Amino acid sequence: MCGIVGVVSSQNVNEKLFKGLANLEYRGYDSVGMCFLTNNKFNIKKGVGKLEEVHKKLDFLNSSGSIGIGHCRWSTHGGVTKKNAHPHVDCGNRISVVHNGIIENYSELKDELIKKGHKFYSQTDTEVIAHLIEDNLRNNGIEEAVRVSLNKIEGSYALGILFADEPDKLIGARNESPLIVGLGDKENFIASDVPSILSYTNKIIYLEDKEIVVLTKNSHKVIGLDGKEIIKKINTINWSAEAAEKGGYGHFMMKEIHEQPVAIANTLNERLRNGNVQFEKEFGLSDDYLRKVKRIVIVACGTSWHAGLVGEFMLEELARIPTEVEYASEFRYRHPILDKDTLVIAISQSGETADTISALKEAKKYGVKTLAICNVMGSSITRISDGVIYTRAGPEIGVASTKAFTTQLAVLYLLTIKLSKLRKTLNEKQIRDMISGIRKIPLQLQSVLDEDTEILKCAEFFSNKPNSIYLGRGVNFPIALEGALKLKEVSYIHAEGYPAAEMKHGPIALIDKNMPVFFIAPHDIFTYKKVLGNIEEVKARGGMIFAVATEGDKEIPKKAKRTIFIPKTLYTLSSILASVPLQLLAYHIAEKLGRDVDRPRSLAKTVTVE
Ligand code: G6P
Repeated sequence: MCGIVGVVSSQNVNEKLFKGLANLEYRGYDSVGMCFLTNNKFNIKKGVGKLEEVHKKLDFLNSSGSIGIGHCRWSTHGGVTKKNAHPHVDCGNRISVVHNGIIENYSELKDELIKKGHKFYSQTDTEVIAHLIEDNLRNNGIEEAVRVSLNKIEGSYALGILFADEPDKLIGARNESPLIVGLGDKENFIASDVPSILSYTNKIIYLEDKEIVVLTKNSHKVIGLDGKEIIKKINTINWSAEAAEKGGYGHFMMKEIHEQPVAIANTLNERLRNGNVQFEKEFGLSDDYLRKVKRIVIVACGTSWHAGLVGEFMLEELARIPTEVEYASEFRYRHPILDKDTLVIAISQSGETADTISALKEAKKYGVKTLAICNVMGSSITRISDGVIYTRAGPEIGVASTKAFTTQLAVLYLLTIKLSKLRKTLNEKQIRDMISGIRKIPLQLQSVLDEDTEILKCAEFFSNKPNSIYLGRGVNFPIALEGALKLKEVSYIHAEGYPAAEMKHGPIALIDKNMPVFFIAPHDIFTYKKVLGNIEEVKARGGMIFAVATEGDKEIPKKAKRTIFIPKTLYTLSSILASVPLQLLAYHIAEKLGRDVDRPRSLAKTVTVE
């Protein structure tokens, strides 16, 4: 996830680009760059680090030009280096491009362009776009060259493009990555989101997929990839700047909950190929090694530890590898038993949690291989580990983790597929079913989000109760723990998660008519019937029952006060779908109670102390 902004104006655009990028920094901050066009020449300033850091060195505001583009990066292809920072240019330095997204066929295109004599300077997928347009510019004008090029590109993009020989025109385009157009007074904008330009204009056009916009300071034109002009609605935005930053949602937590379909789609992107899972080169672990692993130990904290428990279920059930999950803070003081056949996996959203870093360092003393599952490129944990799989959730700002958690589950599922295939614990059909199951998840998540009104009704019952219990079994026991944690974190209501059958051994004594009990009970062949029995036990004691169940379930709605339905999916994947109603429930309860949802008391997003 990166941020892009572009301005064409009658005045110097340096300040507008700078402020625009400052507002977009939440989208990525490993490097930053700007391109100004003056006297038919590009002035490109870019570097590694946050906007302020690079600005100190390069002084972005000491630049002039009435047209420019800017970019803040969240790396996907190519390391965090100045060369890989945007903008990228063609061989002739006449086309400058900023990009947010992933070009899936970039290596094929790059090979073709290299054969034609193009020289590449970075490892990014983006640079291909500049060269491809350069190639098509031989027989076309700029608009046509962009259109022809985009017709060859597969993948996602939001683009800002400048041409040194057409100094009045700014071109933007979008496909599956956000890009909006702002119409100002003798100036026009493109940007990744509305808030970044809201101080300059509130007249906004929302570009749809496969649309190109051509802007001059006084005009705008939108065309499709077929070349036909499209008349777009101009919207007037009435958000306050703060509301706008949150994309119109009340809080970052809610925004991030709603980003999950896209976050999971990004996490899967390019990794499911030819009936198998392929991770990027930073995965670093060979097939030979993975075939020999005898045991996995997962270390993590908080929500990431819950993801580890789901991973344990998947890895043991499907890849048949004995797996243990340890609190990182405990592991490091326990003289763990590790040998060369043990793989240690650290799971961390931030990659900077002190206990997880120390646990990894402890593991490394035993000479074992280590793998990080992490959301932040270049963070400490990714640098210490032998290999990394990135979750591609994008920056998570709300302290309570939501999209980072479900993308961790998606990565653990992908890893399970890879290991199951390598170790032949599943047959080809089972692998194909697993792949087609996860491919459906982004769309299915959307339908879970649509259950929000029903979840809001559940919140009514919880918000005036001091305690609650979450129960689940198998792969959904950790989801019960995570549901309870979400509620505690953001609402300050006491909540406990238990394996549903364990309830009989103590917690059942707490149940009376004032105790809301939330069952995570999707249909499965293992435990569903037993969970129905557990529901009866709670009902017999007057407990208030709420449940997540699979669409079409006729039994649970008869027993529960309210039932939230999730679509049919594979049992292991029900953990991803079932997480979302619990996040929404915690959010609504906290909001009803007037809590500071994004910054709950005493909590920190990243705990860098032991
Ligand atoms: C903090 C956060 C939690 C998070 C935990 C682990 O406590 O508030 O949301 O789960 O740290 O963080 P990590 O970045 O390592 O996943």
